[in-house]
Amino acid sequence: MRQISVTEHLQLHQKNIPEATGRFTSLFNELILSAKIINRAVNKAGLVDVLGDTGETNIQGEHVQKLDEYANKILIHRLQRCGVLCAMSSEEQADLIQIPRNFPKGDYFLVFDPLDGSSNIEANVSIGTIFSIYRRKHGNLESVELHDVLQKGSEQVAAGYFLYGSSTVLIFTTGDGVHGFTLDPSVGEFLLSHPDIRVPEQGKLYSVNEAYWHYWDKKTQEAVAVFKDPNSDLGQLYSLRYIGSLVSDFHRNLLYGGIFMYPADFRDPKKPHGKLRLLCEAAPLAMLAEQAGGMATDGLNPILEIEPQELHQRTPLVIGSRKDVQKVQDIFAAE
Ligand code: AHG
Ligand code: MN
Ligand code: MN
Repeated sequence: MRQISVTEHLQLHQKNIPEATGRFTSLFNELILSAKIINRAVNKAGLVDVLGDTGETNIQGEHVQKLDEYANKILIHRLQRCGVLCAMSSEEQADLIQIPRNFPKGDYFLVFDPLDGSSNIEANVSIGTIFSIYRRKHGNLESVELHDVLQKGSEQVAAGYFLYGSSTVLIFTTGDGVHGFTLDPSVGEFLLSHPDIRVPEQGKLYSVNEAYWHYWDKKTQEAVAVFKDPNSDLGQLYSLRYIGSLVSDFHRNLLYGGIFMYPADFRDPKKPHGKLRLLCEAAPLAMLAEQAGGMATDGLNPILEIEPQELHQRTPLVIGSRKDVQKVQDIFAAE
């Protein structure tokens, strides 16, 4: 296959960002440089002291792993300087991240999960960086308020993730299909490896943490049980694949077909809507799933239609092959 770089591909596929070629590309290039730097640290995590816990907890009340913090710092440092953002939001930071006064600004708003699956870092399981890009709605560039940037997922201009695995891949969409690039370390470039990814209509895999069975409501138990029932009208047997790293579980299901579920559970009264975050996890993956011909709901409603009320809002997530997600939606919709 002819070697196509991300920059070249962006020139070809930017139906909904026609007016912003150079600016948008510079944003992507800074994301890519950040991912290369993070990837270098991830690959040698076992050798240098970037493993383990910082002993702090973040806005999510979770232990912050050193690589989480490192990835967060790299992304903020690099993206603050790209000249096309009005503000950012990171899973690791409570508030909006403003662009310093003396830095050039632009109309884009970036949301990211700097390192997803971080509980797996020390076990050498694939982890990733998830990003989501909006254009700000209104307001002035100098002091961006939450209401200037908070928008539902269907307003995303682009979304994607880097997956630091057996190879390092970048999967993204700008609203014109989903495309995958693999880092060729010999040239240090992400080259097109998965043009126009389509998720199979129905999968053979379901991904959910069944340990929470007794903390789910009846509908959720019914929705999960259907994938274990040999006599269900899904008409086939499924395997359970769950590695506890959302980007890895999502990526496998995107390519092979399947459904990932992180339902609401009653384990933690402070988190009645499940663990996953709408803005930095569910919405970007939902844009990818839908652009690839799949589907993404909170069980009943499309993820991309949820109007966010706050930065770190959580949502149940059911995402993947259309027929499988539709089956869950039918169960939730039934009286
Ligand atoms: P993060 O590392 O960004 O906090 O995300 C972890 C998430 C997600 O990657 C994964 O699907 C989920 O946590 C696993 O949660 P459980 O351990 O509760 O199954
Ligand atoms: Mn995450
Ligand atoms: Mn994270």
